[in-house]
Amino acid sequence: MTGSPPLSGATGGVALVASGSARGTQQISNSQLGQRVDTSDEWIRTRTGIGNRCICGPDQSLADLSHQAGTQALSMAGWDADSLDLVLLATSTPDDLFGTAPKVQALLGARNAVAFDLTAACSGFLFALVTAAQFLRTGAMRRVLVIGADQLSRWVDWDDRRTCVLFGDGAGAVALEATSADRDGLVGFALRSDGARGNCLNLAQHNERQTLVDSASHQVGGYQPISMNGQEVYKFAVREVPAILKQLLEATDTAPESLDWLLLHQANQRILDAVADRFNLPHAKVLSNLAHYGNTSAATIPLMLDEAVRDGRIQPGHRIASSGFGAGLSWGAALFHWQGPS
Ligand code: ACO
Repeated sequence: MTGSPPLSGATGGVALVASGSARGTQQISNSQLGQRVDTSDEWIRTRTGIGNRCICGPDQSLADLSHQAGTQALSMAGWDADSLDLVLLATSTPDDLFGTAPKVQALLGARNAVAFDLTAACSGFLFALVTAAQFLRTGAMRRVLVIGADQLSRWVDWDDRRTCVLFGDGAGAVALEATSADRDGLVGFALRSDGARGNCLNLAQHNERQTLVDSASHQVGGYQPISMNGQEVYKFAVREVPAILKQLLEATDTAPESLDWLLLHQANQRILDAVADRFNLPHAKVLSNLAHYGNTSAATIPLMLDEAVRDGRIQPGHRIASSGFGAGLSWGAALFHWQGPS
């Protein structure tokens, strides 16, 4: 468990300077899903706020989504790919279990960057942001690209109406740069895990034992589609997200009304509204694009951030409280300022 206070021992700061995003090329509406499972636009919109999701086409990979989002962020930052020290890819749906970040590094042409994957489901982007910040604050690195990307359409049971209506494919990227401690954009963070409650949301291996030789056996199998106890995950989210945000705001001496934006993992509009209500924040301060994309797991936070940066809602200097939550169980929160490109 890593908790606040976050800044002790920090020698430098982190600036969030640019963003990018990408989506699956195929848009599927709630009504279209009704061709496949017994559901309706009215049920999905009322219970989740979702209207459409974007699903990767047959020729679109997780590396492609990540590359597209990363290229946009580099372009906004005005950086050469060669100047990156790290490409950190938060994903639970890699193209390759050995890691997809190196493929993204190659596609970007980031020849000097080390690249690796980080897995923390829907909390993955925030966990990766905080991880990257450690390299930057210590002075070990100067420029990092953090990408949150997931292609859950590969792992959804498209005949299970309880889960298939929720998810989509996407990627979001944020370019981070080392800066001085007095200009630090990452004001605070808190990260949590509770594996004891992990069985309410899984994308797990199921194996059978097969004889290998006379005296030894091995496991044969593969990953099963997503299984979720929706009500348990819902209760977990509406309890833990306000609690960790409250802790973070108190630890950083931040009044909720001083926030410009609440940027939460996009899983369910009812969860977003419930969290806003706990802090008496107007719903207009809660960023939401659920209606268009559904839950894109590790991508939701940077994808939403990028949209709001590009349409001008998020301005340099804005103070943003963010929280991610999901499988693991894992959850976390971060308070940061958007700097934008210089
Ligand atoms: N269309 C129509 N009816 C449906 C559908 C559907 N797509 N899905 C379920 N139903 C039915 C159920 O069968 C049930 O019918 P019954 O009463 O006859 O048995 C009824 O609707 C109610 O089902 P509930 O599961 O109780 O519905 P609920 O109100 O809890 O909403 C939902 C379900 C939307 C999944 C909600 O529980 C939720 O959002 N949970 C949180 C999920 C989440 O946030 N996940 C994030 C993490 S994801 C990650 O980390 C990868």
